[in-house]
Amino acid sequence: MKNIDLNINDATDFLDSESLEKSVGKAQEILKNYEKISHRNDHFLGWLNLPSDISTDTVKDIKKTAKKLQSTVDTVVCIGIGGSYLGARAVIDALTPFFSKHIDHYPEIIFAGHHLDEDYYSALLETLDSRDYGIIVISKSGTTTEPGIAFRLIREHLEEKAGKEKASKRIIAITDAEKGALRELAKTENYTTYTIPENIGGRYSVLSPVGLVPIAIAGFDIEKLIEGAQIMKNATHSDINKENNPAIHYAATRYELYRNEWFIELLGFYNHKLRYLAEWWKQLFGESEGKEGKGIFPAITGFTTDLHSIGQYIHEGRRNILETILSVLTPKNNVHVPENEGNLDKLNYLAGKRIHEINVMAEAGTRLAHIEGNVPNMYITVPLIDEFYIGQLIQFFEVSCAVSGGLSGVNPFNQPGVEAYKKNMFALLKKPGTETESQKLLEMINKKKDQRNKLF
Ligand code: PA5
Repeated sequence: MKNIDLNINDATDFLDSESLEKSVGKAQEILKNYEKISHRNDHFLGWLNLPSDISTDTVKDIKKTAKKLQSTVDTVVCIGIGGSYLGARAVIDALTPFFSKHIDHYPEIIFAGHHLDEDYYSALLETLDSRDYGIIVISKSGTTTEPGIAFRLIREHLEEKAGKEKASKRIIAITDAEKGALRELAKTENYTTYTIPENIGGRYSVLSPVGLVPIAIAGFDIEKLIEGAQIMKNATHSDINKENNPAIHYAATRYELYRNEWFIELLGFYNHKLRYLAEWWKQLFGESEGKEGKGIFPAITGFTTDLHSIGQYIHEGRRNILETILSVLTPKNNVHVPENEGNLDKLNYLAGKRIHEINVMAEAGTRLAHIEGNVPNMYITVPLIDEFYIGQLIQFFEVSCAVSGGLSGVNPFNQPGVEAYKKNMFALLKKPGTETESQKLLEMINKKKDQRNKLF
C-alpha cells in the first residue's frame, strides 16, 4: 500500500541548499536524541512510541468498553479542550460522511467543554433531554475550567435523568494516573477510567485513550488508525536515510523558510472532511512552536472556498506566507457535471467530468499561481481519507512538529503562554486566593475605561 507522500521541491527552490542540508542533518540528530530518551518519564516523548507501545490488551479493553456503551446509548457527549478534544474530533469528523451525524447504528458524538458559550450549553441540555446518552470526560490535569464546567452541567443533567447509579455506569473518565480532581471523582463515583500516560502531553495524545476511546465509540477502526501510525513511525525513524525521511524534510524546510522570513504557514485542503484535522494541526504546531518570541504562525485554508476570500491576499499580499497542501488522491464517491441544453452558464465544456477532476485542476492551477507569486509550497498526497492514512498523517505531523520545535530551540512540549489568560480570568472571577491580582486587574480595566471615555 502506498504511504502519504511529501513533495518539497516547490519550497526548496526558494532556499539555499547548503543551509537546508545543514538543517536536515540537525533535524536528524534532534530526532535521534528524542528516540533515545522517549521511554523516560521525565520527558514528554511517550507519544513517539504510542503506535507500538499501546498494548493489544488496552485496544481490546477500549473496544469492549465501546461496545458496552454503544449498546446502551444513542449519543455520547465527549468533554475536553485543546489536546484533550481536537484529535478525536479530527478523526471522527474526517470519517463521518457529510450530512450524517454518526455512522450506522453507532452513537452520535457531541463535543462539549471546548468553549464557554452559554447558548451552546442551553441548546445542548435541551437536546440531551430527549437522548439516551453517556459521557466521556477527558482532562489530563483534571482541573481545566471549560471541561470542568461542562462536566458539572452534563453530569448533573444525566444523574437527574437516569439516576446516579445508571449515570455512573455511562461515564468514562480519561485523566492522569494519580493527580487531579477528575481522578479523585472517578474513584469515588466508580467511573470507568483510562489513564493518559505521564510522558504524553495533550496535543500529542490522540493515539492514547484520549483519542482512541471516543473514536472507537463512534464506530471507527482504531487498529487501522494505529497501524497507519506505526507505518509512519517506521518511515520517520532516525535510522532511515535522512534523504528519505519525510518528517525530517518537512521540519527542516519549514525551519529554513522561517529563517528566511516566511513567517506564516497555511495548511490548505481541497477535501473538506480534513477541516478538523487541519484544526488539530494548527493547535499542534501553534502551541508547540509559538514561544520565546519565535515560531511560524499556523493557519488553515479550505479551498476552493478560501480562494474567493483570502486567495487574493495569498497571491498578492505581504510576502511572508508559505503553504502546505493536503491533497487527497481518491474521493470515496463519483459525481459528474451534467450536460445542459441551453448552456447559458457556458459550462458545457465541463459536462461529463467528475467534480474531483475539476478540483484537481483548481488545485494544480492554484499551486502554480501561488509559487509564481512567491509562496513556497509543500505538498502532501494522501491516497484516501480512512483510518489508516489519518493514522499516518497524525504520526507524521507529530514527529515533524517535535523536530521543528527542536530546530528553533524551543521546548515543543510545554505551553506556558496558555496560563496567562487563565490567571487573569481566575482573578476577574474572584477565585479564592486571587484577591490581590483581582484588585489590580479591576483597577487596570477601570483606568482603560476612563481613558476611552476621555477620547470619545
Ligand atoms: O496540548 C495541551 O497540552 C493542551 O492543549 C491541553 O490539552 C489543554 O489545555 C487541556 O488540558 P487538560 O487535558 O489538562 O484539561
